[in-house]
Amino acid sequence: MRVLGIETSCDETGVALYDSEQGLLAHTLYSQVKLHADYGGVVPELASRDHVRKLLPLVREVLSQSNSTPDDIDGVAYTAGPGLIGALMVGACAGRAMAYGWGVPAIGVHHMEGHLLAPMLEKNPPAFPFVALLVSGGHTQLVDVRGLGQYELLGESLDDAAGEAFDKAAKMLDLDYPGGPRLAALAEQGDPLRFTFPRPMTDRPGLDFSFSGLKTFTLTTVQKHALEDGLPDEQTCADIAAAFQEAVVDTLVIKCRRALKQAGRKTLVIAGGVSANKLLRQRLEARLADDGCSVYYPRQEFCTDNGAMIAYAGCLRLKAGQRADLDIDVRPRWPLTELTGALGTK
Ligand code: KG4
Ligand code: ZN
Repeated sequence: MRVLGIETSCDETGVALYDSEQGLLAHTLYSQVKLHADYGGVVPELASRDHVRKLLPLVREVLSQSNSTPDDIDGVAYTAGPGLIGALMVGACAGRAMAYGWGVPAIGVHHMEGHLLAPMLEKNPPAFPFVALLVSGGHTQLVDVRGLGQYELLGESLDDAAGEAFDKAAKMLDLDYPGGPRLAALAEQGDPLRFTFPRPMTDRPGLDFSFSGLKTFTLTTVQKHALEDGLPDEQTCADIAAAFQEAVVDTLVIKCRRALKQAGRKTLVIAGGVSANKLLRQRLEARLADDGCSVYYPRQEFCTDNGAMIAYAGCLRLKAGQRADLDIDVRPRWPLTELTGALGTK
C-alpha cells in the first residue's frame, strides 16, 4: 500500500510518500521559520496562508521525486490534530479532496502518534511494547505503548512543554526563534558546572513534569548577571544555556528511567522536536545502558515535524481498515489517549 502523507499542524509543510513494502519513497519539507522569525513565534493566520501556497507544489515534488503518479497512490493521510486549527484545515481539506478525486481512502492522523511512530521509519526499528517520551513544542508526555493506538499516559507536563521551556529560555538569552536548537548550540560553548539549576519534581515520586519554575530560575539568573544592555556577557550566557540544558535533560532522564521501571519495559522511544537534542540522546543512551534498557529515536530531520511520520502512521491505520468519513474533521485539541487500536482496542 502506497500512502501520501501531509503534515500542516503548525509551521512546517511536510509531504511524503510511504510504501508498506518498499519503505519511504520520497519526502519534502518546507519550514516557515523565516516567515515567523520577526514575530518571535508562530502567527497562526500567516501559517495557514503559507500552507495553502506550499502544499500542492510539495505534493508534485514528492510525486516527481518518486516517479509516481496519482494512480500509484492507495491512500492519503493528513494530520487531523492537535495543532493550529487553520493550519490543520489546509492539510485536511487538501488531503481529503485529493483522496476523493483519486478515488482512494483518506485517514486523519494524530500528530503525536506520528511522532511516536517516527522511529519505526529507521533501519533498526523498535518493537512494541515500549515507553515513549514525547517532547515537542506543545507536549511533554510519557506514554506506555502496548501497540498501535494502545496508549496509556504515565505522566505529562503540568505547565510548559520541554520545547516551550527551551524556546522561552532562549528568548531570555536573546536567541532567535525557534530557540531550542540555538540554545543547545550555545550550551556547547558553556560550562555546565558554573550554575546549578533545579531539577523540578524529581525529589518526589510520580512521572509528571513542571518546567515553569526552571523558567523563572533562568530569568532570575539572567537578570542577576545582566550588563547595561540587559544581557550577561557572552560566556555567562553560554554558561546559563548549559546549566539550563543540563537541568532539562537530567529531569527528562530521571523520569524516563522511572517510567521504564514502573511500566516494566526495557525499550524507550523518544520523539518530537526536543528528541533532536544531542545531550538528551547521549545521556539517555549512557544511563539506559546501565539499566539494561535501550533507546530509539528518529533521524534528526524526523524529530521535528515532517510528512514521513504522517504517511507512516496513516499507512498502518489504513492497512488496518480505518477510514476518514467524507466530512472534514480536525481537532486542535485531541488527547492521545483517546485513540484506539485498529479494532477499537484500548
Ligand atoms: O515536534 P516539533 O517540531 O513541533 C511541535 O509539534 O511542537 O518540536 C519543536 C520544538 C521547539 O520547541 C524547538 O525549540 C524544539 O522542539 N527543539 C529542540 C531542539 N530541536 C528542536 N529543543 C532542544 N534541542 C534541540 N536540538
Ligand atoms: Zn510536532
